[in-house]
Amino acid sequence: MKAIVQDTYGEPEAVLSLQDVAKPAVNDGEVLVRVHAASVHVGDWMLVKGVPYIARPAYGMPRPKSRIPGTDVAGTVEAVGKDVTELRPGDDVIGWCAGAFAEYACATQDHFVRKPANLTFEQAAAIGVSASTALQLLRDQGRVQAGQKVLINGASGGLGTFAVQIAKAFGAEVTGVCSSKNVDMVRSIGADHVIDYTREDFTRSGQRYDFILDNVANHSLPETRRSLTPTGMLQSNNGTSGGRWFGTLGTVIKSAAASRFARQQLGPSIKFQNRADLHVLTGLIEAGKITPVIDGTYPLSGTPQAIGHVGKGHARGTVVINVNGADHA
Ligand SMILES: NC(=O)c1ccc[n+]([C@@H]2O[C@H](COP(=O)([O-])OP(=O)(O)OC[C@H]3O[C@@H](n4cnc5c(N)ncnc54)[C@H](OP(=O)(O)O)[C@@H]3O)[C@@H](O)[C@H]2O)c1
Repeated sequence: MKAIVQDTYGEPEAVLSLQDVAKPAVNDGEVLVRVHAASVHVGDWMLVKGVPYIARPAYGMPRPKSRIPGTDVAGTVEAVGKDVTELRPGDDVIGWCAGAFAEYACATQDHFVRKPANLTFEQAAAIGVSASTALQLLRDQGRVQAGQKVLINGASGGLGTFAVQIAKAFGAEVTGVCSSKNVDMVRSIGADHVIDYTREDFTRSGQRYDFILDNVANHSLPETRRSLTPTGMLQSNNGTSGGRWFGTLGTVIKSAAASRFARQQLGPSIKFQNRADLHVLTGLIEAGKITPVIDGTYPLSGTPQAIGHVGKGHARGTVVINVNGADHA
């Protein structure tokens, strides 16, 4: 099968290449999926670059643990191993696996759920790490309730576009912060108010929020706290600012320390992917409350360019890889 292969860390276009590799074997409890589409999130870019360096033991030393990068997939079940009871060949699924940027990918059955019928494979591939992280941050960290005022800083990216829609689905009054070119898009996905960061600084507006999801970290902690209600919560979620060695570890430690002395909560985020959350998300999608925003689509051979684009930090929604060259409804 064709797959994108990575044997060392570096710039996507320098270290990724399209190669012929063996199709994964299906072991007991596993599902082999013919991948129709995969999506790229910021974590894919970080893994290809191998940054921050402190994460290298987790990524793999001296080279990535998985030769094929990519996690989020949408496709059709090709084969199932012994003890797989919930899925069968021919089922259309979405989920996570190691090695999504390939024609076939394999993982245990608890990594997949059935694809919502109202999404194309390209749209469905966008659900995954970004949508489930947004869900966990708003529901579990922020405990966002109907009627609360929520601000999403970085509302136009892969995670932000899901966060705006999920916060709206929870009944919050949502303010999205983005640049001029994305104002209409962020409003179209449900934001009640949109702040164009090129014209206005939300920390100086005097408006206060019950929950701020900060995907950008372009303000100091005291500046952002000014925009919280006395009992509000700031969730700093930026994973890309900070140095090559330690990334955002410093921000996480500062937030955790500050929250011990402030009435406002400033918790670090704890995230993990699980199938129950995929079911919550597909329910919201089928109810018409979430529709993925697609920045653009690349062929499998264009994966290095797609990852490079995401790494620049200005994606507009989610970047998708169309693996077999045709979108299936
Ligand atoms: N995606 C995930 O699954 C995930 C999981 C955990 C943590 N994170 C972290 O969450 C952050 C956001 O992730 P993402 O997937 O949404 O990133 P992304 O797809 O790269 O989007 C970043 C967005 O931030 C906007 N932006 C840039 N500068 C801004 C500013 N000064 N004010 C407001 N918006 C600004 C960009 O819009 P413009 O082009 O208009 O500037 C862009 O749409 C990253 O730091 C990432 O490490 C992501």
